[in-house]
Amino acid sequence: MLRLAVFASGRGSNLKAIYESIKNGTLHGVELALVISNNSNSGAIVFAQANHIPARHLSQLKYANDAVSFQNELLKVLAEEQIDLVVLAGYMKKLPDVVVGTYRGRVINIHPALLPAFGGAGMFGLHVHNAVIESGKKISGATVHFVEGEYDSGKIIIQETCPVFNDDTAESLAERINRTEHNILPKAIQIVVDSIEENT
Ligand code: GRF
Repeated sequence: MLRLAVFASGRGSNLKAIYESIKNGTLHGVELALVISNNSNSGAIVFAQANHIPARHLSQLKYANDAVSFQNELLKVLAEEQIDLVVLAGYMKKLPDVVVGTYRGRVINIHPALLPAFGGAGMFGLHVHNAVIESGKKISGATVHFVEGEYDSGKIIIQETCPVFNDDTAESLAERINRTEHNILPKAIQIVVDSIEENT
């Protein structure tokens, strides 16, 4: 059984989708071992605590903004919890390079657009959906990809499209895409879990 850590900063609906998929058995071979949030009030951390999932509030600010102390603490916690796979599910911070390097091929992220379009620095939250609407595109969607050095780069695992309607606001588009994310994120995790198991 692989041990999964989910990093989340906000509402935590994708965390919930992972939790439900494991609970109902559609996502298997993996357990939700740890939730890490940079925000002590996040929906993600509240959900984890309410559902008895080990949760940690870890933020660079807690280490006087010292990047090295923070990254060492992250590595220590992930090692202590024997984490095999990391999912960034609405994590609004850049994961330190040393963590990405340590878990190379085992860190994945969900992005609310069809990468490589509408990705990169500054493309998060409603900025993404505003940019899609302003571009006039009639199709958007969600992408799950491996995390490599740069924002939103890395091999794509799954993408699924969503229509963009003429009367969409960034909020209404975000909500439609969020439902798509809940569908593809557990599937993408299953693909990575199966491939890790096949190769170990
Ligand atoms: C999702 O749209 C995800 O693509 C983005 O942040 C959002 C997180 O939503 N990276 P939630 O906290 O899982 O509800």
